Amino acid sequence: MEETIRGVYPFLDVNRTPIGIDRLDMLLRGGLLRGRTYLVAGETGTGKTIFSLQYLIYGAQVLGENGIYVLVDEGLEEFIRGAKSLGWDLQSLIDEERISIMTLLTEFPERFKDKYLEAVAKSIIKDIKEEADRINAKRLVIDPIAPLILSEKTLNWMREYVRRLMLGIEENVGCTTIVTSEIPTGTNALSRYGVEEFLASGVIVLRIEKRNDEYARVMYIRKMRWTPIRPIELEFDIIPGKGIVIKS
Ligand SMILES: Nc1ncnc2c1ncn2[C@@H]1O[C@H](COP(=O)(O)OP(=O)(O)OP(=O)(O)O)[C@@H](O)[C@H]1O
Ligand SMILES: [Mg+2]
Repeated sequence: MEETIRGVYPFLDVNRTPIGIDRLDMLLRGGLLRGRTYLVAGETGTGKTIFSLQYLIYGAQVLGENGIYVLVDEGLEEFIRGAKSLGWDLQSLIDEERISIMTLLTEFPERFKDKYLEAVAKSIIKDIKEEADRINAKRLVIDPIAPLILSEKTLNWMREYVRRLMLGIEENVGCTTIVTSEIPTGTNALSRYGVEEFLASGVIVLRIEKRNDEYARVMYIRKMRWTPIRPIELEFDIIPGKGIVIKS
């Protein structure tokens, strides 16, 4: 698949890795810059999880780039079942160690008891790095970047945690990373904590919009460092067996 894309679009860049969403990769001149971190943000139900899962499955199945999924707010079984409803057989990819899913949900309350934020972020980065080395991962997804259950933490605490985690991962793990962030419903924010968009090399916002009495899913490319692209909105569908497909 990658070869075909390169064959047809010779301007594509070897320093980039395709996401696995056809028209988007073309627009991005071949995909995401290797080793960088990208933000996929959106209100609940806009497709952040499907976007990031598709990125990992495409990497593992088509490109031979193994990947890690850090599952934050959901249990593993439910996640695998959900992927199956889209026609994606995650279990085999896990069995073949091409994708590894790390669940942190149950450990979070315990880990976050540590009031030294630096220690919390460091220990999470260390676990991810160990797992990345073990399966030789090139792709990483953290969905979402910050657990929603930590309501007792202050905004500043969460901001600083997100900052340390994002910077620490780019420095230490060496994968091309997608983090997701939930945008509070009905706001104009680009992310939940307002720091994610500044730390990321690129920002894609997913939305549901009313257009002529119908709801449409749209993807807004808000920022792409070092990529000659103007802000653009793309309409898409979520199709079982294919995932996110951009409408022409
Ligand atoms: N099997 C499927 N076939 C088609 N569409 C689906 C399928 N499964 C989910 N969807 C659509 O995708 C939407 C959810 O996408 P997703 O879980 O990626 O959203 P999200 O942005 O991660 O949400 P949250 O913030 O709540 O985690 C659903 O609301 C549904 O409309
Ligand atoms: Mg989700």
